[in-house]
Amino acid sequence: MITAKNITEARSLIKRWKSAGDRIALVPTMGNLHEGHLSLCEKAGIVADRVVVSIYVNPLQFGANEDLDRYPRTLKDDQKKLTEIGADMLFTPDNQLMYRDALEKTTQVSVPGVSDILCGQSRPGHFTGVATVVAKLFNIFQPDVAVFGEKDYQQLFIIKRMVKDLFMPIQIEGVATKREADGLAMSSRNGFLSEEQRKIAPTLYQVLSFMRERIVSGDAQASRLEVDGMRTLSEAGFQPEYLTIRRSQDLAAADLAEDKSLVILAAAKLGDTRLIDNVSFTLQ
Ligand code: PAF
Repeated sequence: MITAKNITEARSLIKRWKSAGDRIALVPTMGNLHEGHLSLCEKAGIVADRVVVSIYVNPLQFGANEDLDRYPRTLKDDQKKLTEIGADMLFTPDNQLMYRDALEKTTQVSVPGVSDILCGQSRPGHFTGVATVVAKLFNIFQPDVAVFGEKDYQQLFIIKRMVKDLFMPIQIEGVATKREADGLAMSSRNGFLSEEQRKIAPTLYQVLSFMRERIVSGDAQASRLEVDGMRTLSEAGFQPEYLTIRRSQDLAAADLAEDKSLVILAAAKLGDTRLIDNVSFTLQ
């Protein structure tokens, strides 16, 4: 695996691969790679000939009081994992390269509306930070395909919208969330949980799964299900931010008597650690 640190080096490899007829897949990450990330790389290897992984903890998507400084950085370990799975290129830019040290002056890409709801409400500017860095990475690599996890459902939705709106000729692939044996969605932030919090954390997925079961078996009272779910989370020790049933096509509030394609999304804090999860499903 080649580790590229600058754009010229990365682009010359891409050019070589493309002229040999290879399809390029990009897997953007912030590192601290776990099985979830590796499943994205696996998907990338299925849909393309060359797998490029970027590792960059993007400051533009973190708010002032968020966990940018303590976000886990484990480059040596990540490099080892990517070599083992046969990734072709790792790109590890720094802030100087991505923003020329002028974060606040950079050109930004924003996807209005959908960036301001759900996670965007408690993390203003977060999705503009995500869309901006992903657009930069897309411009550097011009991949045929880019692969993202479905755990970040709203992020995936926003990236698909950006690609469509900006006519970027890139296929966006979503990959199902990888879970621990007890159902907890894999996340780099799980490492912040204390032993006690780690025991509580799977409740988030249990609540989502219970709500899905209720809806599939005909319960159409969305707001009662949401209120009950929020209460269960609070009683378990979470500080829930939102728990909501939405239409998958536009993330608007779902009408369970009408809508068939649904997603239940949640964000909740356990101590200082913010967890997100979702389940998506289609009613018959
Ligand atoms: O999902 C992530 O890890 C990040 O938001 C991404 C897509 C790599 C952009 O920094």
